[in-house]
Amino acid sequence: NCLSFLRPKDFPTLQNDTFLRAARGEETEHVPVWCMRQAGRYLPEFRESRAGKDFFDTCRSPESCCELTLQPLRRFPFDAAIIFSDILVVPQAMGMDVLMVAGKGPTFPDPLKEPEDLQRLRTAVDVEKELGYVFKAITLTRHKIEGKVPLIGFTGAPWTLMAYMIEGGGSNTYSKAKRWLYRHPEASHMLLRMLTDVIVEYLLGQVAAGAQALQVFDSHAGILGPVQFKDFSLPYLRDIARRVKDKLKETGQDVPMIVFAKDAHYALEDLSQSHYEVVGLDWTIDPRSARERTGGKVSLQGNMDPCALYSPKDRISEIVQKMVEGFGTRGYIANLGHGLYPDMDPENVGAFVEAVHQHSKLMIKQ
Ligand code: CP3
Repeated sequence: NCLSFLRPKDFPTLQNDTFLRAARGEETEHVPVWCMRQAGRYLPEFRESRAGKDFFDTCRSPESCCELTLQPLRRFPFDAAIIFSDILVVPQAMGMDVLMVAGKGPTFPDPLKEPEDLQRLRTAVDVEKELGYVFKAITLTRHKIEGKVPLIGFTGAPWTLMAYMIEGGGSNTYSKAKRWLYRHPEASHMLLRMLTDVIVEYLLGQVAAGAQALQVFDSHAGILGPVQFKDFSLPYLRDIARRVKDKLKETGQDVPMIVFAKDAHYALEDLSQSHYEVVGLDWTIDPRSARERTGGKVSLQGNMDPCALYSPKDRISEIVQKMVEGFGTRGYIANLGHGLYPDMDPENVGAFVEAVHQHSKLMIKQ
C-alpha cells in the first residue's frame, strides 16, 4: 500500500499562510477566502468522481478524499482547503449505522429513542482504529497539497451530532432530539459528554495527522434557544477548545480553531469568549454588529448568503465589497454563511473568490 510510506512528517513548506495569519488576527496582504462545501456537487469533476459510489465508502478511501479535497483548489485560488469527510463519521465510530440515502440525506436506520439506548454506544472508542482512515486522508492530502494552502480538519459539535443520532436524519423541528433535552436532561448530558470525549481525541488525531486548523460545526445550534444553548451546547464547545488547546500546548503546537454555530446569533458574545480564535457566522448577522458584539476579541469568518451566488457576477462583486467593508480587512476570513448548494455555477464561485481578493487588496493598500 503506497500510503504506508506517507508519514505525518516532512510535509512540504507552506507557501500561503494568509488564512492562518487572519485566524490569529495578524496583518495580511489580502483577505483570505474559502467556502464551506467547496468540495461538493456543484463541481462536475466532483460528481464524476463520486458517481456510483457509496458516500461513506468514499469517506473511507483516503485517495478519494484527497482527490475531492484538491479538486476545488485546481479551479479557484482558495486560501484554505477543508478535508473531504463528514461529521457523521463520529456517530459511526461510536457504533451507530449511518447511510447516505440519495434524495434524502443521511439516515440512521436505528436512531437512539430512549436513554436506555445509550448502552448501545461504544463506551471506550478507539479513535485511531475507528477513524484512522480520516487521519490517513489528512496525511496524504497534506503531502499532495504541496504546501499551497493550509488544510482544515473538522468535526460536528456534540449537540449537532446528538440531534442526528436521536432524530435519525434531517428534520424541520428536531423535536425528538429536543424532547430529550426537556425530558431526559441527565441522559442528554451523558451523551453530550461521551461525544465530547471522542471529539477531543478525534481533533487531536487530525492535528497529529497534519491538519493545520480545526472547525467545529454546530449546524443545528439555531434550533436551540439561548437558554438551552447555554446548557446543552456552549459548555461542550468550550470544553473541546480548552482540552484540545491544552494538549497541543504541551507539544508547542498552535492550531487555530473555528466555531461555527449556525443561527446562534443570540450566543455571539459567549462564542467570542469560548477559547476559539475564529467565530464563523451565518448570513443572518450584520458584519458591523458582529464586530461590535465580539469586541475585537476574535477573528470572524463568513458570511455571504450562499444564494447571493445566484446573482450576476458584477452584483456578486458589489455584495462582497459591502461585506468586506463591514467586517474590515483585519482578523477576517471571507466565506459563505453556510455551504454551497449543488446547483450553483462554479463560475460564480470563482467570481466570489476573485472579488474578495480584489476588493480587500485595494482596501489594505489604502
Ligand atoms: O467541502 C467541504 O466542506 C468538506 C466536506 C464536508 C462534507 N460534509 C461533505 C459532504 C463537510 C465539512 C461536511 C460537514 C457536514 N456534514 C455538516 C456540517 C456542515 C453543514 O452543512 O451544516 C453536516 C450537517 C453534515 C451532514 C450531511 N452530510 C448532510 C446533511 C448531507 C446531505 C447534504 C445533501 O445536500 O445531500 C451530507 C452529505 C455530504 N457531505 C455531501 C458532501 C459533499 C453531499 C453528498 C455527496 O457527495 O454525495
